[in-house]
Amino acid sequence: MAMDKRFKMAVIGCGPRGKDHVKAAIRSEQFDAVGAADIDVKRLNELADAHGIKGRYTDYKEMFAKEQPDAVHVCLQPFLRVQPVKDAIAAGVKAIVVEKPMAFDFTEASKLVAMCKDAGVLLVVNHQKRNMIEWVKLREAVTGGKIGKPEMLRCSCFGNVLSQGTHMLDMAWNILGEPEVKWLVAGAENTVSETPTHPGPRNALALVEYANGVRGSFAIGNDSPPIPNSQACWFWCNIEVRGTEGKVEAILDEGYKRWDKEGNLVETQVSRWNDEFQGAGQAKLSVDIASALRDPAFKHPQRGESALVSFGLVEAICRSALGGGKRIEFPLKPGEDALATWTRSEAAKKK
Ligand SMILES: NC(=O)c1ccc[n+]([C@@H]2O[C@H](COP(=O)([O-])OP(=O)(O)OC[C@H]3O[C@@H](n4cnc5c(N)ncnc54)[C@H](O)[C@@H]3O)[C@@H](O)[C@H]2O)c1
Repeated sequence: MAMDKRFKMAVIGCGPRGKDHVKAAIRSEQFDAVGAADIDVKRLNELADAHGIKGRYTDYKEMFAKEQPDAVHVCLQPFLRVQPVKDAIAAGVKAIVVEKPMAFDFTEASKLVAMCKDAGVLLVVNHQKRNMIEWVKLREAVTGGKIGKPEMLRCSCFGNVLSQGTHMLDMAWNILGEPEVKWLVAGAENTVSETPTHPGPRNALALVEYANGVRGSFAIGNDSPPIPNSQACWFWCNIEVRGTEGKVEAILDEGYKRWDKEGNLVETQVSRWNDEFQGAGQAKLSVDIASALRDPAFKHPQRGESALVSFGLVEAICRSALGGGKRIEFPLKPGEDALATWTRSEAAKKK
């Protein structure tokens, strides 16, 4: 890949996601990994040894000062986002990646986007799934007119609104060509999911209408419909779009299919949750960061403002559910923080 400059990246958090981010940034051929930080020294050394990273830190602020990275990937649990982003901005980092979910409540998410915008820093949320080939094909078919005029969207995923839900809501919006959201109605189980780090409602059902006229249904939660023969519940993640001329479907770890109006299967693409396919999607996120660092006019597809749309849908699901199925109109008004009813609840704190 031709390029004029490699940028410096550093990671905070050397768990499974931190490892994946470093591997993908190196694979993108746009970044050198110059620093890693974790309070767990064993994890820190394991990741740094695997990639020959010399800069090893238990204090990420020291890493910022010594390594001066262009991009920092914050791969911490969701309740640990705001302070590292503030510190990275103060240290002069130009691009900050945070894992999904982007925050623990809507106020915090809006604050992260505003803070980075005010400082002229690129904020990226790791919605890398939409870069995988099956979802790219889905988007190309829907936005490219291969199924005629899209009218119906059906989505389901395992994992609550904060775990796989933000990916699902992000991908569905992206596949439709990122239309404005008009309204949402939802119901949610009044039980905090057993994932202690992602304390959302265990199950949620939502109806959404977009400005292009498409209406979508979402089943998001641990009791969502299983995908037959799937290797793991995390692969229960699928989107189907029907249009006037055919339909398309994508399933995580399975692939993409398109049928014509008569029901004939006319296009297929296999995809797997592995280095080849997921790794490529993750690397694309870094390629786009490098493009944005070189050209400030380049809009990163997974920039903070874009992630705020799917996070707004998460918040709207919680507002609607708490309001007994109240219709929520968009754009969302700031300030209610219905999601915090779950994330900051006593039940969540006890887990
Ligand atoms: N995008 C995806 O497909 C995807 C998939 C799985 C998980 N995730 C998200 O990734 C995030 C992290 O997941 P994980 O499995 O790697 O988490 P993890 O808890 O296994 O790892 C986090 C690491 O951060 C370290 N840490 C905590 N506080 C720190 C601090 N102040 N300074 C430095 N290090 C610190 C911990 O010691 C730990 O090693 C979660 O938000 C999760 O939702 C995303």
